[in-house]
Amino acid sequence: MIWRKLARGLGRFTLPAASAAMAIIVVVPTAAWAAPFWPVSPASPQARSQVTLFWIVIAIAFVFLFVVLGVLVYVMLRFRARPGQPEPRQIYGNQRLELWWTAIPMGILVVIFGFTVRAVTDETAIAADALPVAVVGHQWWWEFRYPTLGVTTANELQLPVGRAVHFTLESADVIHTFWFPELGGKEQTIPGTSNVWTFTPERAGEFEGACSEYCGVQHAWMRMRLIVQTPQDFDAWVEQQRRPPQAIGLPEHQEALRLWSANACGQCHTIAGLSSGIVGPDLTHAGSRGILAGGVLKNDPDNMTRWLRDPQRFKPGSYMPNLHLDDQQAIALARFLEDLK
Ligand code: CUA
Repeated sequence: MIWRKLARGLGRFTLPAASAAMAIIVVVPTAAWAAPFWPVSPASPQARSQVTLFWIVIAIAFVFLFVVLGVLVYVMLRFRARPGQPEPRQIYGNQRLELWWTAIPMGILVVIFGFTVRAVTDETAIAADALPVAVVGHQWWWEFRYPTLGVTTANELQLPVGRAVHFTLESADVIHTFWFPELGGKEQTIPGTSNVWTFTPERAGEFEGACSEYCGVQHAWMRMRLIVQTPQDFDAWVEQQRRPPQAIGLPEHQEALRLWSANACGQCHTIAGLSSGIVGPDLTHAGSRGILAGGVLKNDPDNMTRWLRDPQRFKPGSYMPNLHLDDQQAIALARFLEDLK
């Protein structure tokens, strides 16, 4: 009886309603899955605990979605108005039902709260042997300092696999949010205070990260890269980053050095042994990085030249000014910067 009524009821579904349902069921999850920042492949225990929490909440939500929709459809079919039927008995309030539908959601929220506290604790419990890394958000690039290793870099973070990291998050200007989706996150960098964060990369590889808090006109190009490698490769990278760049002394870079001081590049940028500006990214080993200017360009000599010719063309609003270099000057300076390894 009920099944026949249900079938008859469903037969009334119009084409637009059916299309809308299909769109929700198929298109939305597919789009979400395809997005590059969908954290479905956790690469740290902290990210895994977040993903677990996510699926628990989704599962609970869907169970209740289907229960509520089922009851709703049943009531719509079973008790719908029929021709000639008198108005049904009017009732108001049902204390027992109201208690149940208050108590059950409260119970669910308590369970979700428990799982949430566990996931949050995972992300702020810092291991004693964690590697300290200071993260500073700038409009619009990331500064990474390794205080115990004496290394500073920009936009590209390198870490050894299997070791917890003790992040200290700060901001040089406005609020930014540090986020590597596959490693777990996210956490804000707030001017005037410092936040603490941790994750332990579990597998080697390259990971994409981004600022995930609107922070001004170039928020979209505040990307970053994380390279997780074996402890041996990481140590080799640290050794390389600690060496003073050899390019400074080379005769072929004399013109570049002249341009560097003529344009006061050192007012904003540090190159160890040459200048100590702190406004822009540290360029001591600029040539060893994979991305430029918060990820707006891949780092290679051609792109570095184009960037130096007209930074505002690639990143309007960036604090890197147009120095009005001619082609030859931009090429000379780009060669020098790419040689800083
Ligand atoms: Cu920094 Cu958005």
